[in-house]
Amino acid sequence: MTRPVRPAPAGAGRRPTRSGSTPGTHPRPDPARDVAFEVLRAVSERAAYANLVLPTLLRRRQLAGREAGLATELAYGTLRAAGTYDQVLARCVDRSLAALDPGLLDLLRLGTHQLLALRIPAHAAVSATVDQARAQLGEGPARLVNAVLRRVSQADVEEWMDRLAPVGRTDRLDRLALVHAHPRWVVEAFAEALGGNLDEVELALAADNRAPVVTLAARPGTSARDELLAAGARPGRWSPYAAYSPGGNPAGLVPVADGRARVQDEGSQLVALALAGAPVEGAERRWLDLAAGPGGKASLLGALAAEQGISMVAADRAEHRARLVRRADPSLYAVTADAMRPPWLPGMFDRVLADVPCTGLGALRRRPESRWRRRPEDVLRLAPLQRGLLTAALDAVRPGGLVAYVTCSPHPGETRAVVADVLGDRGDAIRVDAREYLPGVPELGEGPEVQLWPHRHGTDAMFLALLRRR
Ligand SMILES: C[S@@+](CC[C@H](N)C(=O)[O-])C[C@H]1O[C@@H](n2cnc3c(N)ncnc32)[C@H](O)[C@@H]1O
Repeated sequence: MTRPVRPAPAGAGRRPTRSGSTPGTHPRPDPARDVAFEVLRAVSERAAYANLVLPTLLRRRQLAGREAGLATELAYGTLRAAGTYDQVLARCVDRSLAALDPGLLDLLRLGTHQLLALRIPAHAAVSATVDQARAQLGEGPARLVNAVLRRVSQADVEEWMDRLAPVGRTDRLDRLALVHAHPRWVVEAFAEALGGNLDEVELALAADNRAPVVTLAARPGTSARDELLAAGARPGRWSPYAAYSPGGNPAGLVPVADGRARVQDEGSQLVALALAGAPVEGAERRWLDLAAGPGGKASLLGALAAEQGISMVAADRAEHRARLVRRADPSLYAVTADAMRPPWLPGMFDRVLADVPCTGLGALRRRPESRWRRRPEDVLRLAPLQRGLLTAALDAVRPGGLVAYVTCSPHPGETRAVVADVLGDRGDAIRVDAREYLPGVPELGEGPEVQLWPHRHGTDAMFLALLRRR
């Protein structure tokens, strides 16, 4: 795990007694740690998403600047590395972690993160967590937190990694999983997708632990991108509509506020642009996004279609997701429809996007808890839907037309395997070399499919297969 350099937070200089706070003083309010703890509780108690809970809590507690930064680092960092911290804690707690009160376990993880990943002096990290345990859970749990964290603090992170997975005596995948805080099955999937190159797997895992640059997509046919650049954004590397945010809340930028730009990963832009840019024979009249909610890619595709006088249908099976599509772009024709029992006729469309539900293993940078929540069974559970939607896309496109099969996951079980299975079952579609339609983007793999990666491209790990209906 990397050690971000952080200024010592509030309370860092106090000397703890053997059981926590300084004698004769009341613990100081510690809003950043309290918010981080609340996020951890929401994630473990209600299966909440940290990236949705945290901004609300920051607003409600009126945390900004350095305090908001510390709360974010504490919450996200702890959630990302929770599986690794549990292995450390299992060596320091004299009972099974499963037998602990879940709130207590969350606090122990939070304290362990401060001890092993942040430059917070050990006594301050222990003392602050013991104070929190006392305030949140009572005196008994506070004593246990004190004892356990003192044991954790007896070694630094490198020493812990060597104790738990000594180099030379541990399988390399196990060590990578521990050091970079990913479940072993995810490391295996990345290794398969990267052709077994474990040095590169290590780069991919490390990239998942770095916060992504906030990327904006300007609406084609508007001056939004120029305005974003004038406001301090940097141009995206490959998408002509991408701009990297200048920092701060993107909602404060005029083109974002008035709906001419949105937050969208550059990888998502590139796969949509590849579908729009690959040649199709004959005149074009209609495009389809058959699983469009919440509407990010549909919005970009719809604007490109409109520039050429082509209409686009954006469908989603879930009513609320179709509503999000309408909200994302009121000019889109958004419908609630199950693409596997479609209201449209076969062969009606010139281009079809199938951006299917998947594990999201390509976006672990954004969803800190998700790597521990996902299970290998999810890949199996999603497979019939993924195959069904790709089949529905091929049915919806006309001969000579194009289908883009897209996932935000590099797991071969939901990328190449799905495409191979569906093509194996029907003889009316062929793969197109998708790399040709991401001009200038390096290291796209051996083709004909494309796999983007955070460590190679700075994008989410989006997968794209382009298929032409015969
Ligand atoms: C990965 S998301 C699409 C993301 C979207 N392309 C974007 O860029 O914002 C997949 C979507 O497929 C929808 N979906 C799942 N099964 C479907 C079906 N049978 N027919 C239509 N949509 C479906 C889900 O509701 C979900 O909104």
